[in-house]
Amino acid sequence: MERAALAAALRALLSPAQVIDHPAELRAFAHDASFFAQVSPQHVPDVVVAPNTAEEVARVVRFAAEHRVPVTPRGTATGQTGGAVPIHGGIVVTLHHLRRVLELDAPNLQVVVEPGIVHADLNAYLKPHGLIFPPDPGSSRMCSVGGMAANNAHGMRAMKYGGTGHWVLGLEVVLPTGEIITTGSVGSRSLQSSSGYELTKLFVGAEGTLGIITKLRLKLLPIPPARALVLALFDELERAGEAVNATFAAGILPTAIEILDRGAIQAVNLYRPALKLPPAEALLLFEVDGNPPGVRDDAERITSAIATLATHTEWADDPARIAALWEARSVVGAAASMVRPGAVRAYCGEDICVPLAQVPAALRGIARLSEQHGIPAVTYGHIGGGGLHAGLLIEPANPEEIARVQAMADAIHQLALDLGGTVTGEHGVGVVRAPYMPREHGPALATMWAIKRALDPHGIMNPGKIFPAEWHGMESTDGETVQAAARPIAAPSR
Ligand code: LAC
Ligand code: ZN
Repeated sequence: MERAALAAALRALLSPAQVIDHPAELRAFAHDASFFAQVSPQHVPDVVVAPNTAEEVARVVRFAAEHRVPVTPRGTATGQTGGAVPIHGGIVVTLHHLRRVLELDAPNLQVVVEPGIVHADLNAYLKPHGLIFPPDPGSSRMCSVGGMAANNAHGMRAMKYGGTGHWVLGLEVVLPTGEIITTGSVGSRSLQSSSGYELTKLFVGAEGTLGIITKLRLKLLPIPPARALVLALFDELERAGEAVNATFAAGILPTAIEILDRGAIQAVNLYRPALKLPPAEALLLFEVDGNPPGVRDDAERITSAIATLATHTEWADDPARIAALWEARSVVGAAASMVRPGAVRAYCGEDICVPLAQVPAALRGIARLSEQHGIPAVTYGHIGGGGLHAGLLIEPANPEEIARVQAMADAIHQLALDLGGTVTGEHGVGVVRAPYMPREHGPALATMWAIKRALDPHGIMNPGKIFPAEWHGMESTDGETVQAAARPIAAPSR
């Protein structure tokens, strides 16, 4: 369908102000936070729509299904995988108008929200009620809760509380046909269920390839009354990995164990000098929560469990000190590029997760690849769960460095799989990790594809994501092409 006709039809379906088709404005929608979008900024949508209700989303999707127009849902576009980038053009459905808290059901420990609400805004709303939505992504102040669910985002506290999926009790979803369904039992307020297929879990992590989330029923937790944070320094990365194991062996389950390597510490100090982090090969932050005497006891037990491994330990239960240390952790992503003047952080190869026993091997592997490819890496992440973010620093105007960083990102992904891990611990697959899916999932990927085809026979819903390009039948979103492209599993990439 031609752009002007598409825009006119959508203006008639919604209202004129809800449809964007000015070329300059459309360019913004070719981007998320991925390196992919930086180097391939040409994936501009034909039109963007901003619905106000689920019914409006459904209207747009029904139209798109009828006319075989690709639809790409978009939250706040903080994703690092190209997931919200409309790589086949068509309609971007931006969900930022859908950002209300629809109902707080405090006695039942749940809240019903629209997908566009920003994570930190939701927790700010819940705080006076003594409640918290526990997942805690690094991008809390920017990312939408719908995007977190679509990617099953994890974040710091996943160590103890699990990923976003663990806290989603039910969803309202607009299917690729335009039909609206409720998962997790219609009208239910139960906190658990064994009823039927777990459709909620199917849509969580589907990255908008199976439908558009228009409402979420989320499970909440009473805010734990106290927290404590242990800071530990190490003169070898290996020892930091051992300290994680020593903590579990001591019978302690922290809410978070985060690592910053030497470069990450340096980056934080350049970005926020007032934080004055001590230099070291590795710095670990262990957070525990619970009641005040309990957290002090846990902090002391962690300190003694890792005493022979760390060169320095200290702990705090003062909220201001805890907040300052979390601030240090949360700025690493933004600060990383400062360790190499003039460089930018290329978000690629940044989200591997490996078995705990392989964390030291992964850290060594990233350091070796950094040396081999001549690309500085600042590494940090959720070491307690095996999640590592390698911040790769390049000169953006140098095409040769761009090629090298892409080769390095590929090697990091292969390393994760070699070590028995995954290419994405919490950010998702999108476009950039689709090529690794055959190796990572084997024949299970064909089962995922069968589900995709069953729910989205015309291949209109966020096409080009999760499955390798050739599976999608590329150019066309026409049903026949999609089905013709469904072929036996591809050979492993190596
Ligand atoms: C973090 C995000 C990038 O951990 O996952 O900061
Ligand atoms: Zn993270």
